[in-house]
Amino acid sequence: MLEGSRRWRREGLSIGLVPTMGALHAGHLSLIAEARRENAIVVASVFVNPIQFAPGEDFERYPRDPARDAEQLSGAGIDAVYRPAVEVMYYPGASTRVHVAGISDRLEGAARPGHFDGVATVVSKLFTAVEPDRAYFGQKDAQQVAVVRRLARDLDFPVQIRVCPTVREADGLAMSSRNAYLDPQERAAAGSLSAALRLAADAYAAGERRPEQLRSALQARLEAEPLAQVEYAEVVDPETFTSPGSLAVVAIRIGTTRLIDNHDLSMRFPG
Ligand code: PAF
Repeated sequence: MLEGSRRWRREGLSIGLVPTMGALHAGHLSLIAEARRENAIVVASVFVNPIQFAPGEDFERYPRDPARDAEQLSGAGIDAVYRPAVEVMYYPGASTRVHVAGISDRLEGAARPGHFDGVATVVSKLFTAVEPDRAYFGQKDAQQVAVVRRLARDLDFPVQIRVCPTVREADGLAMSSRNAYLDPQERAAAGSLSAALRLAADAYAAGERRPEQLRSALQARLEAEPLAQVEYAEVVDPETFTSPGSLAVVAIRIGTTRLIDNHDLSMRFPG
């Protein structure tokens, strides 16, 4: 357990947890700011979780900048940083995985087999170590949010899952640590994600409700970008991630970088 958590609980102080993999950006800082507003104590975890990366994914090259992270965290007024070593998080030979059935196997889960088991396992362990009253996640990873909500409910973790809006660059690109992989040409092409979501939101606002029409609009706009390879473009229910629904979810690959985004079509696209 995190040193401090037991004492804070004894003293009746509420604890907010912001789980991260480091490489912090304005999206993370918005989660911390919300946690700061709602809790006496704010803990951020920084752990690049090896078991949520499949072989061949970007675990090795995932951006790591501990000095800059530390600077940002202290500037954001964090009370404690939980930064376990891999051997502390996963005892040698650890083989247990938390699997949230159904939702973990669709879309992101289908594209990245084992990914959500890795997320659900580490988040369960973080909840056990920190015992937060509230935990903060970004809407950018909408399917992760649905997995975490379900796991907290099913395993009776006494934690409220708080979801904060996606923070976007001026052109609409969702902030992500992986944006750092993009060269200038790829960065320009990445704008197709938010452009597609905006287009579908405009169609929805104009009265379009047919899932296939909305899906095709997303797909067509993404395919119009020559550097983008479309992995999926769907309109789903935000809890089950099955169709139909009003959450547009998209994933593309640009060069070696995989990017995802989403938007609730019943709301105006920001900006
Ligand atoms: O969203 C992330 O950064 C990670 O998936 C999380 C929730 C910190 C678990 O490793």
